[in-house]
Amino acid sequence: MSSVTRRDILLIILSFLIISIIKSTTFSTFWPERTTREERVLLVTSHPDDETLFFSPTLLGLQKQKKPSIQLFSACLSTGNADGLGEVRRREFGDALDVLGIEPGRRMLVDHPELQDNITQHWNSQIIANELRDFVVEHGITLIMAFDEEGISSHPNHISTFEGVKYLVFDAWPSNSMASPPKIFKLVSHPLSTKYIGIVAPFLSRSPRLAHKLNLQHTEGPVFLSGIGDYITAITAMRRHASQLVWFRYLNVMFSRYMWVNEWVEVKVQHTTTTAFQS
Ligand SMILES: *[C@@H]1O[C@H](CO)[C@@H](O)[C@H](O)[C@H]1NC(C)=O
Repeated sequence: MSSVTRRDILLIILSFLIISIIKSTTFSTFWPERTTREERVLLVTSHPDDETLFFSPTLLGLQKQKKPSIQLFSACLSTGNADGLGEVRRREFGDALDVLGIEPGRRMLVDHPELQDNITQHWNSQIIANELRDFVVEHGITLIMAFDEEGISSHPNHISTFEGVKYLVFDAWPSNSMASPPKIFKLVSHPLSTKYIGIVAPFLSRSPRLAHKLNLQHTEGPVFLSGIGDYITAITAMRRHASQLVWFRYLNVMFSRYMWVNEWVEVKVQHTTTTAFQS
């Protein structure tokens, strides 16, 4: 035993870390086993670049699944015009989705006067539902993915996006629609302590027992882990958001766990109120 040095232990740990990021992995999925119908999945975000910064492990992971057959769509509720760069960011959104593999006919970018990029404003759920409804019905969306009630960064626009999606599906689904309302899954927000563990996140997520021991949050729902190839694709997509790549976002990209790991929980609440976030 005395021959096992600290250096050996470090090497073993390092090897585990490296092995854990080589291959992308999915634990459990959005669908029950043996589902055969085609699934049409819509990601709803708040600002151009959310899809890359927070959701790329899932977008890239879903495209690798063979069963069920999956069609991917993306809707963004604002052009991200807080700094007057809306038109630039509209273009960047398209360029990033090219990299992430979502086709031009499957994208929507909303630009509504009441849904503008603003870190102090909540958005109205009814307006969000009205903006999304036709797109969701027309494309036969079977599953919507969005932020959760904490919105990853507590940005009110993110939180409102979750509320708006819930409102559309649970309260404002068109009664004359032939289609049944889509399922909703929300992306689990992590506390700050584990949000920026970046490259260590895939390792911990592959070791649920260790994560549990270290008292880190662990969910039972679907988990998408990026491999190094996916991570590089996500970085490439992020570079398409050139107007957003100021130094602190580089740090975010480097250290954020959401560039590596996405954990999901199905939303089953049956009713919401539109006034919950209006003061
Ligand atoms: C955001 O909203 C506040 C009021 O809610 C307003 O004063 C501010 O000008 C808005 N910011 C932008 C960038 O529109």
